[in-house]
Amino acid sequence: MNGKGILIIDFGGQYDQLIARRVRECGVYSEIIDYDRAELARIMELAPEGLIFTGGPRSVYEAGAPSVDPGVFDLGIPVLGICYGAQLMAYLLGGSIEHAPLSEYGRTSVSVEEDSELLRDADRLNTCWMSHTDYISSAPEGFRITARSGSCPVAAMEDTGRRLYAVQFHPEVSHTDHGSEFIGRFVSGICGCARDWKMDSFAEEQIEKIREKVGDGRVLLALSGGVDSSVAAALLSRAIGSRLSCVFVDHGLMRKGEADEIEAVFGKDGPYDLDFRRVDASERFFSQLTGVSEPEAKRRIIGEQFIRVFEEEAELLGKPEFLAQGTIYPDVIESGRGKSAVIKSHHNVGGLPERMRFRAIIEPLSTLFKDEVRQLGRELGLPESLVSRQPFPGPGLGVRIVGAVTPEKAGIVREADAIFREEIKKAGLDGSISQYYAALTNTKTVGVKGDFRTYEYAVALRAVITSDFMTAAAADIPWEVLQRVMTRIVNEVGNVNRVFYDITSKPPGTVEIQ
Ligand code: XMP
Repeated sequence: MNGKGILIIDFGGQYDQLIARRVRECGVYSEIIDYDRAELARIMELAPEGLIFTGGPRSVYEAGAPSVDPGVFDLGIPVLGICYGAQLMAYLLGGSIEHAPLSEYGRTSVSVEEDSELLRDADRLNTCWMSHTDYISSAPEGFRITARSGSCPVAAMEDTGRRLYAVQFHPEVSHTDHGSEFIGRFVSGICGCARDWKMDSFAEEQIEKIREKVGDGRVLLALSGGVDSSVAAALLSRAIGSRLSCVFVDHGLMRKGEADEIEAVFGKDGPYDLDFRRVDASERFFSQLTGVSEPEAKRRIIGEQFIRVFEEEAELLGKPEFLAQGTIYPDVIESGRGKSAVIKSHHNVGGLPERMRFRAIIEPLSTLFKDEVRQLGRELGLPESLVSRQPFPGPGLGVRIVGAVTPEKAGIVREADAIFREEIKKAGLDGSISQYYAALTNTKTVGVKGDFRTYEYAVALRAVITSDFMTAAAADIPWEVLQRVMTRIVNEVGNVNRVFYDITSKPPGTVEIQ
């Protein structure tokens, strides 16, 4: 840390990375360290400008509960304790902690003292996010109570002389009014951190870490062409150049122009000095998928073939020692946390690490959120079309063709999808819709074109608004845009005579139509 930034001591809370993110948003460097590695000597060596204690699931008075050396409060470094971190601060300094008769979860009103150094300028009655069962029943000597809630007599406290601050609520979550401001006030106003950290600093730090870990070894990256693996490729390429091999498996189920675009960026004519291998495996995928209609069976076949192709390529490359993945923080949360490497369940390379015995896995984006990954991609010079790409499932168009997959159907859905995407973009709606695409239903119906009867496919358009893809609502696309898309699809794409717009929410529908 070289005496700069905020050290976040992790007691196992749910929102630790969100705290780090909020600090980064202030333009200040932060590092997270497990509480059991945060010995006093280590903290002094790192010499942060401020410390934040995170939340955590335990009770401070339980045997073996996570703790720190109380000497930390005498180092003269400002400390902000959040939730469990607040209780720990109170407990270690002589305050008392009790099991609350009533837990507080979710939105809670707190009344704030006007002259609080940390919370000043907040509304007197502030809405914040609580998630706790224990609470501070009396503040330690020297502390002033600066906020209270209905069932929490010490919702915030501070000892400005010693620069110690504690909040029972979570300022890092967006539901807490002024939460980011409180964190900003702590890091800049109280700790005096300069707001000069940028995403390019993150890139530099990661590049150093990658070089240290890989030494003169070689790294294999499965490049799907999605935002995360593309940003990981750009970062790794900066770190180790041609000792990175990127294997891009074209399964014949990519969107229109996508495979060529990926090759243009990462291939020999692109700006990166890396060993890029595009494997055209479409025939193999289509032949394995022949006659298979059941969606899970299709996914299994695509996943298995993917691994086969990848294994063959790794063999040709002489089995590199390291596997890199574009895992991002939400994937880590979804897969459950742990000290071992976590492999994202949705990921194309699922199953590979176990089968191929890599020496280690490298996941340079595992602390970032999606929008931060996009920001990093821009810093690294990736084209906007790649960086702002919407999510695309690993099995590709294979999960957007209802029923059996054939090259002909893939061609139809690819063209229809390109038209839909083009028109949404032209209408200026691409920034406000979370995911949109065309799918091919397994339905053929009678229609009329010119003076002829037709018996052709129906295309379904899907566009959803969602923040986390767990629930979603159909987007309210203007009628004239839908009309334009329909006219172009039935005129320009062969073998289609109907276009449906799917208005189903999730649940009960899913985002993908398969
Ligand atoms: P569903 O259809 O489950 O989709 O509502 C939610 C989000 O996940 C994406 N998705 C996948 N991504 N491999 C992936 O990498 C998959 O097998 C897969 N299935 C769904 C989907 O595009 C949406 O963003």
